[in-house]
Amino acid sequence: MTRTLSELADEAEEAAIEELENKIFLRQNLYALGQGEHGPYRRGGGQLKPGKTIFMGDDPRLPAMPDRPGLLDFVRCRFAIGGQQHLLQSARLARGNGVSGKMILACLLHDLAVSSFVRSDHGYWGAAMIEPYVDEEVAWAIRYHQCVRFFADPENGYEYPELYIKFFGEGYEPEDYIKRDYEYARNHKWYGSALEICKNDHYAFDHGMVLEWDEFEDVLADHFHAPEEGLGNDNTPASHIWRTLRRPSNGL
Ligand SMILES: [Fe+2]
Ligand SMILES: [Fe+2]
Repeated sequence: MTRTLSELADEAEEAAIEELENKIFLRQNLYALGQGEHGPYRRGGGQLKPGKTIFMGDDPRLPAMPDRPGLLDFVRCRFAIGGQQHLLQSARLARGNGVSGKMILACLLHDLAVSSFVRSDHGYWGAAMIEPYVDEEVAWAIRYHQCVRFFADPENGYEYPELYIKFFGEGYEPEDYIKRDYEYARNHKWYGSALEICKNDHYAFDHGMVLEWDEFEDVLADHFHAPEEGLGNDNTPASHIWRTLRRPSNGL
């Protein structure tokens, strides 16, 4: 049976999508919830159905959050489970390696953006989310771990992770801004702190090991200063990120 041109085009498109899906992490949170086919606009149309208004407010499909949410409320209601384990396992590794409480917090939150908000430029986003509530060095280390991780520093106990060869391919070269920011970080007094995160980044991804946030209650109490009015209800340069995370489906 001869296939029509449009059937051949469909097959080519399907193959291309499959190839992409092997590489791209499909988002289960912000994009899917707010902008996907369940969002306020129908896909492709860009127009509201007659008689409908744009969705605003708490999305009933998501776990309800308390009026004054703290970090752990966001963890419980908005974070990806797998991502949480990566954070917890990294923090446990850091504690075992005798890292200070402040830097255990940095390891505990280093991929916060990946687990909750957005993957791309996760170091920069993660730092922006917590900057008003932690020691300056913690936010700095989280911001710069993103570039530092690409550059081996065997003298200080950091080799290029084998997993990155799998993740990014052999001979992957980071983008120019990553190289630029690495040069800056390498000569900064807190370079060792960004490197500490990379050294304790738990790449084993042990799916059988399930850790709980209680294990780091002390670290959070001592080093994470959440606002009394709740994350997102305060007025800091990070508030809008927490508000977006809380109500990702808002039309505008
Ligand atoms: Fe990271
Ligand atoms: Fe990580």
